[in-house]
Amino acid sequence: MNVLVFASRKGGSGKSTLAAHLASYIAQPGRPTLLIDNDPQGSLSLWHKIRDQEHLGLKHNVRNIADAVKEAKREGYEWVLIDTPPNKSAIVAEAIKQATLVIIPTRASLFDIAALQDTVAIARDLRKPYAAVINAAPPKRGEAEAPVVADARGALNALKVPVWSGQITHRPELTLSLATGEGAREYEPSSQGAEEIGRLWTALERSLNAIHNSYKKAGSRAA
Ligand SMILES: Nc1ncnc2c1ncn2[C@@H]1O[C@H](COP(=O)(O)OP(=O)(O)O)[C@@H](O)[C@H]1O
Ligand SMILES: [Mg+2]
Repeated sequence: MNVLVFASRKGGSGKSTLAAHLASYIAQPGRPTLLIDNDPQGSLSLWHKIRDQEHLGLKHNVRNIADAVKEAKREGYEWVLIDTPPNKSAIVAEAIKQATLVIIPTRASLFDIAALQDTVAIARDLRKPYAAVINAAPPKRGEAEAPVVADARGALNALKVPVWSGQITHRPELTLSLATGEGAREYEPSSQGAEEIGRLWTALERSLNAIHNSYKKAGSRAA
């Protein structure tokens, strides 16, 4: 099972937005997927309600995340995406404990990068794979990133925080699609927003394969 946890103590960094768009990619007939919306704001619960799609389950404000993940496994879910509140509360650490991969969305600003380090510290303490994703970024010019994005990437590299090589640009379709219960690809498949989310999804699949392979190798060494 894959458990993706969206965490960052900074509100507005894009946890719920990325969780919804990725969930719409992941949830397919052959890929039973559960969203756990543990942000009291309930953004994903609202989106899920409008969406009304059978391949995607939802639980919200779960008290015990470890139990909820175990139950999801018993129920046959293969993917679990957990959205968390913008703080450093115990529930965030509990979610991270269950993670196959922690996704830390961040805007490209000094304050956001400073805030991200708290979430990174939790993931490191719990020895969980994590990656930052630069979100709501100014558009690229051709292949060139905006200076503010390049600076943010430099700061993340200096902090030895793994960061996805792409970016999710600030785009209206990434907000408008959610208001109709869709992901960017369902809303407008040829949009640039859909293309960027698709690239993020490909990168995540690759990272998850690498994570599972490394656990397998470690397991065969231990055997
Ligand atoms: N890439 C993006 N393009 C456009 N709007 C975005 C993008 N990412 C986030 N937003 C908007 O920013 C706001 C905060 O995003 P949200 O996902 O709710 O953050 P969080 O869950 O981390 O608090 C929302 O209104 C959302 O629609
Ligand atoms: Mg949120």
